[in-house]
Amino acid sequence: MAFKIGLLGLGTVGSGTVKILQDPAQRHPLLQELEIYKVGVRSLDKPRPVEIPDEKLTTDLESIVTDPEVDIVVEVIGGLEPARSLILKAIQHGKHVVTANKAAIARFGAEIYTAAEAAGVYVLLEAAVGGGIPVIEPLKQSLCANRIHSVTGIVNGTTNYILTRMKNEGGDFGDILADAQRLGYAEADPTADVDGLDAADKLAILASLAFGGRIKLEEVYCEGIRNVGAADIAYAERLGFVIKLLAIARREPQLSPDEPEQLQVRVHPTLVPKQHPLASVNDVYNAILIEGDPIGQVMFFGPGAGSGPTASAVVSDVLNIAAILKVERGNATKPDGQPLLDPLLACSHQHYCTIAPADETVTRFYARFLTNDSPGVIGSLGTCFGNHNVSLESVVQTDVRGDMAEIVVVTHDVREGNFRQALDEIRTYETVNEIASTFRVL
Ligand code: HSE
Repeated sequence: MAFKIGLLGLGTVGSGTVKILQDPAQRHPLLQELEIYKVGVRSLDKPRPVEIPDEKLTTDLESIVTDPEVDIVVEVIGGLEPARSLILKAIQHGKHVVTANKAAIARFGAEIYTAAEAAGVYVLLEAAVGGGIPVIEPLKQSLCANRIHSVTGIVNGTTNYILTRMKNEGGDFGDILADAQRLGYAEADPTADVDGLDAADKLAILASLAFGGRIKLEEVYCEGIRNVGAADIAYAERLGFVIKLLAIARREPQLSPDEPEQLQVRVHPTLVPKQHPLASVNDVYNAILIEGDPIGQVMFFGPGAGSGPTASAVVSDVLNIAAILKVERGNATKPDGQPLLDPLLACSHQHYCTIAPADETVTRFYARFLTNDSPGVIGSLGTCFGNHNVSLESVVQTDVRGDMAEIVVVTHDVREGNFRQALDEIRTYETVNEIASTFRVL
């Protein structure tokens, strides 16, 4: 019995998916039981990197998700609409869904998974985070015996490419972004990548799986890389760090068992110690470091995007569903007659995680100040930080910009609210011309 796939989208990921499905030799034998039944495209006339018989192509995507013959819908059109509506309609028609759509899942995951649970179908999304890197299934299955403490990832290839080049070449963000766009490493509209929004979508998904609750996307703190200057990269280097856009989700220490457990979920440029495993993840590569009890640290590394890698993740999800359908577990029912889903593969949590207010977050900070080059300035900064309970790990003054002194401080772990209050006070000092940048330190 062949499992019939309705593929929505024949772009980069869709074409990669077709290439794997059309060439099953030396791959898992179950691939031979998958049939590309229909392919939904925007235009029938476009030249394509893969050959699909004309009778399988259609521009009527809704006809695919409602077709009684289709077992599994693969949604790789991306974007919010019509992807969301097509996924929901597929679920209503009893189809299992495989999607690479992090933006739709991060925003409409609650609606989509509630519908999927009610319909007794799977919605799998390995390709939505980290491209070809297996991280979703490990979080759901291989690591499920662990209490996860933190997930820390480089989950956006475009920004990692830009930051790697800024470090290697000493260039400015704007120049390297323009070159990355020319070379096809950054989109014409780079907003989702460089402003951290793509990473925030992925983090919401990872955190939800790691901590077993839903995450409201608007509660994910998000800061992109536009403010990372060549000077910051150079100071970071001198201080023993590299700057990476990190997506971090971690449990806050629970002060009492009566308090609700809180999470930090944040995306921001971060000074990462050079010896940290994420510091050497360069160019367009992604990596996700998971810390749990009892496993300790485990890191997943690989290509975070691209046709083949992302299709590898898509097809593995399709095979997971086909395997379940093949042994007919998909037809099992609960005592009340509701369909029974594999609890390790389905996503059934319904409560929302509580996210800690940003001010309460405890982390180290880096700050770069442009000040008068006069006696007592460093002392006044140190006194102000001390008054706000911000302990300094290092203070350096090596460069002069114009007639301004450039002073860089790195703090010990501090409450973010205290650090911000100190900065508000420092901003009022006549000797301080500018707080040029502030970043968190891992
Ligand atoms: N825009 C994404 C990135 C592609 O740069 O990583 C994969 O989601």
